[in-house]
Amino acid sequence: MKFKKKILCIGAGYVGGPSMAMLAYKCPDYKVTVVDMNFERIDAWNSQDLPVYEPGLNKIVKKARGKNLFFAKDIEKQIKEADIIFVSVNTPTKTFGAGAGMAADLQYWEKTARQILENSYSPKIVIEKSTLPVKTALAMEKILSSPSGKIRFDVLSNPEFLAEGTAVQDLENPDRVLIGSHETRNGLKARQELVNIYSRWVPKEKIITSNIWSSELSKLVANAFLAQRVSSINSISALCEKTDADISEVAKAVGMDSRVGDKFLQAGIGFGGSCFKKDILNLVYLCSYYGLQEVADYWESVVKINEYQQDRFIANILRSMFNTLAGKRICILGFAFKANTGDTRESPAIYIARKLLGEHAEVVISDPKALKNAESDLADVKGDVKYIEDPYLAASGSHAIAILTDWDLYRRLDFRKIYRSMIKPAFLFDGRNIVDHRKCFGIGFNVYPIGKPALSHLHTANGN
Ligand code: UDX
Ligand code: UDX
Repeated sequence: MKFKKKILCIGAGYVGGPSMAMLAYKCPDYKVTVVDMNFERIDAWNSQDLPVYEPGLNKIVKKARGKNLFFAKDIEKQIKEADIIFVSVNTPTKTFGAGAGMAADLQYWEKTARQILENSYSPKIVIEKSTLPVKTALAMEKILSSPSGKIRFDVLSNPEFLAEGTAVQDLENPDRVLIGSHETRNGLKARQELVNIYSRWVPKEKIITSNIWSSELSKLVANAFLAQRVSSINSISALCEKTDADISEVAKAVGMDSRVGDKFLQAGIGFGGSCFKKDILNLVYLCSYYGLQEVADYWESVVKINEYQQDRFIANILRSMFNTLAGKRICILGFAFKANTGDTRESPAIYIARKLLGEHAEVVISDPKALKNAESDLADVKGDVKYIEDPYLAASGSHAIAILTDWDLYRRLDFRKIYRSMIKPAFLFDGRNIVDHRKCFGIGFNVYPIGKPALSHLHTANGN
């Protein structure tokens, strides 16, 4: 079959894989190829067992794979043939040198830019899909200015806003698609080409265009605003616990103001995931770099509150369980950083599990999708840790349950059955506020939600 255009994506991760699968599914007349330096990942994308768990993803991959969607290993040849190249390689927080712990590590990004330059013999549109510091396109363009000057590269910014667990619906029906370009004749022409692709399935009014720097910055700011809402509500949950106010009631009252809105106001153990912390720290670094220390401090506090919330959760477990966890079995329900994904990157569960093991607790971890990742996240820790998928088996014989991921299945558990199998007094720490606290208290549990009064049958010195 003759394809209209050849599209390549470099980086077959959580962003590159699903977003290209959707593009191929919606545009059968475009050939879409995804490459990655990690060949095992490519093999997985070509298998029945995709490397990314997302509801609905299997279906669209199956429909397009082998027809106009390909996962390939010959990176250089694919670059040569492509008309449009999306770059979706990872940009982790730098761990060394200037900006360590804050700035984005752009080494993979730059390496990819050079690889594109070395293997290009025809004009190409190069699209930043990864989240990047504002002004990265400038560096990209400098690298791509080929020595002979014969090959034209137009660089666009098209950040991806999909959230894990809802990637397919976010890609199919996005709130908006953002495309940034230079406002030159060639820049606008390249931008229009990408607008035409998205127009196949996204309503025109949802495709917004901007200058390239606004586009780069908007992605960082969008994530910072979302994370800030989570930290805002979590900070108030601490005050609720001191004052007998109920965080769910406060969130409802505040969120019903249409100017505020009701989303992202769920208090919990803090945000995880590969993006929020990395992107805020990146924003903090950029602000400091440009001499805006007050602005940097403001955004850094979002990350600090997130860490505080996790520490508070652990301190609460310790205090409620008579200040010792040594030899006690604690069942962690949920290890993924949110429901409907097997991803555990930056999951609060990693930190909490490590702290519990540090207190010499026996830890049993249960999760429907993330156990493999949990094992590798905790591979280096010493202590008694078990991985049991069945939540009933995992909870059996434990002193306490800590719910760390908002999986729907945990809402529907038979807590009476679980209570019977546990050591008494039985504790329930609901880090996501997802179960019926009164009902569990009625069953016999000592229940500790987030941002609500504890429901305890014990009368301890702290008044619970
Ligand atoms: C990542 C970042 O988290 C996100 O902020 C950014 O916007 C895009 O990259 P994600 O897709 O979740 O998103 O990352 P990951 O799953 O790690 O995928 C990146 C892929 O790029 C990996 O499979 C890696 O092997 C590949 N890669 C990396 C290359 O193919 N070449 C490189 O030089 C570096
Ligand atoms: C986020 C952005 O939502 C997405 O637009 C961007 O492209 C990538 O980063 P993601 O990290 O996949 O997506 O998940 P998200 O749904 O934003 O949740 C992030 C974290 O915040 C999770 O740990 C979640 O549990 C937590 N969260 C979210 C809360 O604690 N409370 C809330 O009300 C919402």
